[in-house]
Amino acid sequence: MTDEQVLIPRHVAVIMDGNGRWAVERGLDREEGHRAGRHAARRFMRAAQARDIEAVSLYAFSTENWARPTPEVDALMELIETALLVELQELCRHGVRLKVSGRRWELPAPLQRALSNAEEATAANDDMILNLCVNYGGQVEITDAAKEIARLVAAGELQLDDIGPDMFGSYLYVPDLPPVDLLIRPGGDLRVSNFMLWQIAYAEFYPMTEYWPDFQPEHLDAAIAEYSRRQRRFGGLALDD
Ligand code: FPP
Repeated sequence: MTDEQVLIPRHVAVIMDGNGRWAVERGLDREEGHRAGRHAARRFMRAAQARDIEAVSLYAFSTENWARPTPEVDALMELIETALLVELQELCRHGVRLKVSGRRWELPAPLQRALSNAEEATAANDDMILNLCVNYGGQVEITDAAKEIARLVAAGELQLDDIGPDMFGSYLYVPDLPPVDLLIRPGGDLRVSNFMLWQIAYAEFYPMTEYWPDFQPEHLDAAIAEYSRRQRRFGGLALDD
């Protein structure tokens, strides 16, 4: 492959990290960092759509984030709710369909309503999917799916031999997404932090040292350029091996 060839990933997932450090380094509250992170998410969405990416997944709140101080948790819940209300028209104008991954039933009622409202209002949009991960954890997603499958087996509605990877994947929160091709993590850490553990099986990992609020479209171009240079073998052999 020549350097000029650009491969567009179908599904890009982002661990939006570094909001707190971005704020603290500026003498601001951590909440300011999350607000700046929200605007970075908007820039990212626009850049992803302009590059014909089919689906993006954003890690907005993890099942572990409840351990943060209550004011920060409350601020995040409000921020996500407000973003959904404010950005809904924009999502519709750009043909973006919202999907939600996570234990949404444990979220505050106003946020649950905003999520459902945005899902319904964008249900017919087909230009790009935004999979918003809220109260999301990869381990609970997999165990929730396993529990549902176990329930169906116990009820005699499924046989053990029916269970396989494709079938299991259809019990995840948002089953009809393409697998994640590219996983971007700003903020300098080199770990996956319980994000989309099933879906990232063969994702290419792209860490960034910049904090998420500093995200610019050029970072996505750099990530795509790096992705295009990677040789994806999916456990097989390269074509020229
Ligand atoms: C991690 O940074 C970030 C979060 C826990 C929240 C991310 C949420 C947003 C950016 C809101 C986006 C909303 C929508 C609707 C897209 P951190 O606080 O762990 O940063 P640190 O590692 O520097 O402390």
